[in-house]
Amino acid sequence: MQKKIVSKIVKPTINQIAKYIPGESLINGKSDVIKLSSNESPFKVPTKVSAIFERLVSEFNLYPDGDSNILKKSLSKNFKINFSQIICGNGSDDILSLVAQAFSDGNSEIICSQYGFIYYPIVAKISGAKVLTAKTDGLNISCKNILSLITKKTKIIFFANPNNPTGTIILRDELIKFISNVPKNVIIVIDGAYSEFVTNKNYSNGLDLVKKFPNIIVTRTFSKIYALAGLRLGWAYSSKSIIEILEKIRGPFNVNSIAQEVGSMILKEKKFLIKSINHNEKWQKKLPPLINSFGLKAYKTSANFILVEVKEQHKKKLIISELLKKKIIIRNLDNYGLRKFFRVSIGTDSEMNIFVDTLQLIMRKL
Ligand SMILES: Cc1ncc(COP(=O)(O)O)c(C=O)c1O
Repeated sequence: MQKKIVSKIVKPTINQIAKYIPGESLINGKSDVIKLSSNESPFKVPTKVSAIFERLVSEFNLYPDGDSNILKKSLSKNFKINFSQIICGNGSDDILSLVAQAFSDGNSEIICSQYGFIYYPIVAKISGAKVLTAKTDGLNISCKNILSLITKKTKIIFFANPNNPTGTIILRDELIKFISNVPKNVIIVIDGAYSEFVTNKNYSNGLDLVKKFPNIIVTRTFSKIYALAGLRLGWAYSSKSIIEILEKIRGPFNVNSIAQEVGSMILKEKKFLIKSINHNEKWQKKLPPLINSFGLKAYKTSANFILVEVKEQHKKKLIISELLKKKIIIRNLDNYGLRKFFRVSIGTDSEMNIFVDTLQLIMRKL
């Protein structure tokens, strides 16, 4: 079918979508790169976890458990949450999309924050909803500005805490105050993709708030600290009635058998989790002052990436292309409206040292 015709028959809001472009991963097809563009874990899962692949391969002729029961049991035990209030998905992307499909349509409004994760407006537009963008306060999500956009048509509010790509957080007291001010018939999605990296004691990942606020949905992922981005595994926690709706509309076998099994195994690897948190905390502190000493501005982060501001926009382009020449990939944030910024993920010690040395050399020459 011709593009012109397709664009006439597709939902008008889908015509407005710019395709999601993930962080680059290969340079000219080569994979021997330092990839600091998608906030993945720099660590491989422990070998005892990866060792189960062989056994699982022998069962590939069969469908996975459609209800992800074993995984849900592990999540319930690990996070001390109710089994019947959990849904698993093919990445947390899958669940974000289900939420928009279930709770919004062409007459709805969905509120997202400026400088928020770019997939929220995409899922909103897929379901036909109108997207309202709440201005941030500097780089911080502004609860006040979100509240001011709520109308009778508002169905869902999406935000990540910590936020990607800024690395900022909303602390527990402010979060509770915000949720209390949102009408009970509006769904609030608290995306906790980076929750595990937060070390601030006054932070809440939202799981403990679900009982008091049945209109919140907390989404989580195995793609970041749990180092399983390639397997595609995410989950969400909410009130039973919301989860029942999402369970009805998900794909019948939306989580593959390897992801289910490996996901429940990795939850038991406490040493791996602690190693990852400590490693991240070390670089959360160490990287910004180093970057700042090169004449750039690195922002404080609560996640596993750092937002960096370059005074002159044209210099950002040069920095990105010079790093690429050295096979280091960072994330350009032009499509987030952050034209003077880039984002760099926290990699291994050796990746970070190479990144810092290379960036220093580039900045000296600029
Ligand atoms: C804030 C946020 N939410 C969700 C996701 C998607 O994660 P998943 O791999 O679970 O689909 C990402 C990925 O970068 C993210 O940054």
